[in-house]
Amino acid sequence: MIKHNELITSDDGSHTLISEQFGVSYHSTHGALQESITVFLAAGLHYARHNFLSEIKVLEMGFGTGLNALLTLMEAEKYRRVVRYSTLEAYPITEIQADTLNYIDILNSPQHAEHFKTMHAAKSDQRVELTKYFSFNKHLTKIEDFHPVGKYNLVYYDAFAPTTQPELWDDAMMKRIYDLLEDQAVFVSYCAKGSFKRALKAAGFILEPLPGPPGKREMTRAIKKVVRSID
Ligand SMILES: C[S@@+](CC[C@H](N)C(=O)[O-])C[C@H]1O[C@@H](n2cnc3c(N)ncnc32)[C@H](O)[C@@H]1O
Repeated sequence: MIKHNELITSDDGSHTLISEQFGVSYHSTHGALQESITVFLAAGLHYARHNFLSEIKVLEMGFGTGLNALLTLMEAEKYRRVVRYSTLEAYPITEIQADTLNYIDILNSPQHAEHFKTMHAAKSDQRVELTKYFSFNKHLTKIEDFHPVGKYNLVYYDAFAPTTQPELWDDAMMKRIYDLLEDQAVFVSYCAKGSFKRALKAAGFILEPLPGPPGKREMTRAIKKVVRSID
């Protein structure tokens, strides 16, 4: 049976969904768009854009509505930076539900309507060049079963909260993510829970707490800094 997620409008006018399966919202109800912009674009993508010379290799945990992916595509176009986007999704929403989301309208970007549709329709494990600057690969798998070959330099960690899926925020998971990253890679998440921050530290990340989006005091940015011993 296909599960039905309820569509709601968050405080900034952008839509989000309430997961039928997990009983929680896909974004902050204080503003879905504001959350994506503050956490994933401003603290993550812009940091990467300023700090990395090479292409930006994003790993997103939780494709969900595709809002983060759409915003990232728009930024890649705006700044003409090559972004290689990989995203994980174990419980995809339907293309019909994706069509009801108001992101293209609210972002006033009809030129990206087809890109957004293509992302939602994309088959698993097939990279598509959506624009000159943005390629996209959606892995329809659980993160627990994901074993990529290459490494990433930017992580959007956008799983449902630790209260809902604690197994996605523990020491073992943060160590797994750490091992998927290049040296100097940046990891961002809306979550700032103490046990999660301790898991990141234990994995080897250097933490940079930042002010959160509306409704949240703090968010987390973490950097992988490999310490090399000198013989
Ligand atoms: C907070 S939502 C992601 C929101 C999304 N980034 C967006 O822009 O709309 C979390 C997502 O993680 C997915 N998910 C839950 N458990 C998962 C798992 N074990 N592996 C991969 N994806 C999972 C859910 O189906 C949901 O789409």
